[in-house]
Amino acid sequence: MIKVAGIDVGNDSVKVVVDGSPRPILIPCIVSPGYDRHVLQEEDSPLKALDVQIRSPKLKRNNQRYFVGLLAMEDQDNSELEETDNKATSDQSLVVALTALAYAAIAGQSYPAASGLEEAEYIIGTGLPVRTFVAFQHVFEERLVGEHEVAFLSTPELRGRTVRVIIRRAVVSVEGAAALYHLATNEQLQVKNDEIHNGCIGICEIGALTTDFPVVKRMNIDNQFSTGEQFGLAGYLDSIIRDVEDQYGYHFPSRAKLIGRIRNREFTVQRVGEGKADIRPIVDMYFSRAAQKLVDLIRKRWRKYPDIECFYVLGGGASALRSYMLEASGGIRLRFEDDSEMLNVHGYLKLAKSKTGQAPAQS
Ligand SMILES: Nc1ncnc2c1ncn2[C@@H]1O[C@H](COP(=O)(O)OP(=O)(O)OP(=O)(O)O)[C@@H](O)[C@H]1O
Ligand SMILES: [Mg+2]
Repeated sequence: MIKVAGIDVGNDSVKVVVDGSPRPILIPCIVSPGYDRHVLQEEDSPLKALDVQIRSPKLKRNNQRYFVGLLAMEDQDNSELEETDNKATSDQSLVVALTALAYAAIAGQSYPAASGLEEAEYIIGTGLPVRTFVAFQHVFEERLVGEHEVAFLSTPELRGRTVRVIIRRAVVSVEGAAALYHLATNEQLQVKNDEIHNGCIGICEIGALTTDFPVVKRMNIDNQFSTGEQFGLAGYLDSIIRDVEDQYGYHFPSRAKLIGRIRNREFTVQRVGEGKADIRPIVDMYFSRAAQKLVDLIRKRWRKYPDIECFYVLGGGASALRSYMLEASGGIRLRFEDDSEMLNVHGYLKLAKSKTGQAPAQS
């Protein structure tokens, strides 16, 4: 049976929602080279120890072993993506995406009676930033569509299982605009918010490495006014990591580790030789700077295109910067949503359903 899924191949994390299953899956987009690791105590969930070998004709380095997500987060040889990476062509993005789709297909299911290769067939919806969309949508689609193989090695519960991930179709949409589509429609893809559906809406979708500014008018993307910027929250996180290291000698092994702390509002770090340090002032300084820059960009765009009726600030960066942006916004009203890093992926699933005729009949 072919599953329809939305997959947001994010620079910070890959998110997957499979049609009909309630819980989205999120895997940090970090990988490190895999090896036979010593397992003193098995992790309590597969997501904590994704250890995979991936075979795909679309990878530049085929048939390699990787630690993916949480397992790679502490590794000193781990890699997170940089500004120069392009998710449409990056091996790392594809490795995490395929791992996520393979995991989504077999998680929580017992080993099939006839052992051997398990198959997972998908139609997927996904997306690219405004500025890469035109040049790379077909490249991205071609990279995803086809047959790939993911073998789970030391992963608890999934050890020894191999999944053939077959992607039949990939519908590529525009980041940010997909999030808005999700906000405008219900699960049956009917309009649930007239204001968004019929209005002219500005969006500022803050990702890890890109920030997209699509303008959507009556649910159509405005070709002339939609743009994007090649920066996101990651650059600011890198600066915070560097300053904390310089000032307190404390090293965060990855951006993911830092954002985990910020999310839980744990701002004290342990110093070598006892004592603790408060990193809050450093975080505040960089986040206020980021917020000011984004509010200025929004103001500029709104002046250029005064037909915009309201502005939504979305993406994971919006969750991180919400209070700072509200403070910087002056007289401008900005709209935020909860769980804003998950809006695109829900939008991708809906767009895939609507474009491939998998949608329930509209009344
Ligand atoms: N709830 C949250 N609170 C604080 N920060 C968050 C939250 N969710 C995500 N972030 C951070 O916001 C940034 C953007 O997250 P998001 O998931 O939107 O990025 P992405 O989609 O993976 O990246 P890109 O859009 O550049 O491909 C990341 O640095 C992430 O760590
Ligand atoms: Mg994103």
